[in-house]
Amino acid sequence: MSDLRFPENFLWGAATAAYQIEGAARDDGRGPSIWDTFSRTPGKVYQGHTGDIACDHYHRYTEDVALMAELGLRAYRFSVAWPRIQPDGTGPVNPRGLDFYERLTDALLERGIDPIITLYHWDLPQTLQDRGGWTNRETAEHFATYATAVHARLGDRVRTWTTLNEPWCSAYLGYGNGVHAPGEQDPAAAFTAVHHLLLGHGLAARALRAAGAETVGITLNPADVRPADPDSAVDAAAVRLVDGLHNRIFLDPLLRAAYPDDVLEHMARMVEPTFVRDGDEKLIAAPIDLLGVNYYQPTYVAGRPDGAGGGGAYPGTDGAVEFLPPVGPLTDMGWMIEPAGLTRLLERIATDYPGVPLLITENGAAFPDKAGADGPRREPVLDTDRIAYLDGHLRAAHEAIARGVDLRGYLVWSLLDNFEWAEGYRRRFGIVHVDYLTQRRTPKASARWYQEVISRNGL
Ligand code: FCB
Repeated sequence: MSDLRFPENFLWGAATAAYQIEGAARDDGRGPSIWDTFSRTPGKVYQGHTGDIACDHYHRYTEDVALMAELGLRAYRFSVAWPRIQPDGTGPVNPRGLDFYERLTDALLERGIDPIITLYHWDLPQTLQDRGGWTNRETAEHFATYATAVHARLGDRVRTWTTLNEPWCSAYLGYGNGVHAPGEQDPAAAFTAVHHLLLGHGLAARALRAAGAETVGITLNPADVRPADPDSAVDAAAVRLVDGLHNRIFLDPLLRAAYPDDVLEHMARMVEPTFVRDGDEKLIAAPIDLLGVNYYQPTYVAGRPDGAGGGGAYPGTDGAVEFLPPVGPLTDMGWMIEPAGLTRLLERIATDYPGVPLLITENGAAFPDKAGADGPRREPVLDTDRIAYLDGHLRAAHEAIARGVDLRGYLVWSLLDNFEWAEGYRRRFGIVHVDYLTQRRTPKASARWYQEVISRNGL
């Protein structure tokens, strides 16, 4: 190991999300979410897996917090399940739902671990979806009300509040290509959802600030979009289009108070953006103190004027853009491993949208962790592939800092193996192995490696 130190007070931690780990899907008055419905819809999730039990974190959070403390984590990013707080998405607050997050928060604080709350990590109350979900403007207002209710209980203890996790996924995968809940396939719905998600963020950010929240932010999964051929004008145009649909459609309204014209024009080919009302962009641009960045892999694109592009998850790119197949070695998700993409991405955001501190709110990798990973384990998983992935990306993050990026911390995805959405439990992202039959947790070699990184504050 060479000697690479991170800045003092660099925030080292791990991240999870409610539906992926909590289980206890019917406990203490929790209402159904779109992921309960979606995971029960045949053919949507690998082998019909659901989050009903997941890692049973709802009942085992004490053990999990002890594990975090043992690993030396300074921060823990978790999400609050809206259907636990308001089982129908609106109306009276369910105190038993809040009790759980209060117990969790207190357990973290007792161990000196900084709680970082995500208010929405994809588990929309089903009742709201029955009324159109994020295509309904009212959902944005309900979201702000819910955010206020959570803050009213935890605001005296939690400093860092983030609104949404990856609205790109909620909108494009949820309403565009239907790979995620609620499984709609409608480009117009996808764009409408983008706007209402952003509006919900803006309204919630404003409400949180008014209630006295210290640090308010949002987490995106911005893409490092690259051309197949750096010298091709056609590929450059494809990069511009995908960058618009992935990055600028979120970053511009959030940080410049306006959607980019080229993106609005593209959108108008599928839906007249009448859902963007006067004053909305100003609301979306409510000041933030932190931008969460989730990064896994770069995106390589080529322009296809011949109409032969595959399109992918981006509405209106069918035929026009080809998304290049990832080049190995790949992770178990089939994702490319390119740490330099993280450096480029962080630098680009810092250059084009200066003034907002950045936090890596997710980065990590799924690997098979050897055959028989579901059986009782006697030995920790020797996940040298995951260690190499994390090491490479931490070096890339360090490089961004060296180039002047204001990066405040790094949260590994994920603390535990968990329910990986449409992929179910077959993809393991944890630095801690979970045996789903016994719920036994076993730190993998990567967890011990990370523990050492944290204690040295470097590599
Ligand atoms: C991100 C999600 C997170 C997890 C990782 C692998 O898109 O935010 O919940 O599934 O991908």
